[in-house]
Amino acid sequence: MENKDTDLIVKNLRKSFGKNKVLNGINFELKEGERVVILGPSGSGKSTFLRCINWMEVPTSGEIYLDGVLITEKNIRKMRRNLGMVFQHFNLISNMTVMENLTLAPLKLKLMKRDEAEKRAMELLKHIGLPGKANAYPASLSGGQKQRVAIIRAMMLNPEVLLFDEPTSALDPESIEDVLSLIRELADRGMTIMIVTHEMSFAKEIATRIVFIDKGRIIEEGTPEEFFSHPKTPRVQEFLKKIL
Ligand SMILES: Nc1ncnc2c1ncn2[C@@H]1O[C@H](COP(=O)(O)OP(=O)(O)O)[C@@H](O)[C@H]1O
Ligand SMILES: [Mg+2]
Repeated sequence: MENKDTDLIVKNLRKSFGKNKVLNGINFELKEGERVVILGPSGSGKSTFLRCINWMEVPTSGEIYLDGVLITEKNIRKMRRNLGMVFQHFNLISNMTVMENLTLAPLKLKLMKRDEAEKRAMELLKHIGLPGKANAYPASLSGGQKQRVAIIRAMMLNPEVLLFDEPTSALDPESIEDVLSLIRELADRGMTIMIVTHEMSFAKEIATRIVFIDKGRIIEEGTPEEFFSHPKTPRVQEFLKKIL
């Protein structure tokens, strides 16, 4: 058990798809309460990085520790309870109601009794202003509503870390703000967060640290102030020139 206040340690993480070397030795630490925004050009490996953390993609090599425990094929199911994930395209199950989507994991993993799971789901639904949608199917929800349900689904098991992969990229402007407010609120409550986003003003506001990935490597990291106002590498200077 090392570094008890460190939620996550990633050591020399590499991932290849065939000959395509996507992650080329990522070293990274995430401490409790940190909010890390991951930036980088398209195709640089940001999604693959997040997906490797919860083993949706099995790393080619390297180590990932959660609370000092090495993640392996044997314990990943248990470890995943502490790694909530939210995707760009919501990934709600379309032939299940909102309530069934929310209670699926806790019931399947036998971590809650049905009435307990439904009670928690209902509290979270009330919290996001959608208690009336418990028995609705995902198709009847707007994009923003679907994504807020996906976020509370990730919260059902009280994970230690929430991973967001471009949670607002598929949304219209109005829904984007609803989803960002919910993430902001989780941040204010001290949630540990990693997020890939293209919303730069949100990134500046929410991040305790910005990490920039290029060609499967972290090439620069720092506070939002350091990163946006005093970028060190030419690559980041060029990136910022284009987007700001
Ligand atoms: N499941 C996969 N199979 C094969 N190639 C993949 C897979 N997932 C990602 N890649 C490749 O990995 C590279 C990085 O992709 P990705 O992690 O999605 O980048 P980003 O999220 O930064 O845009 C791309 O070249 C992509 O084609
Ligand atoms: Mg991506």
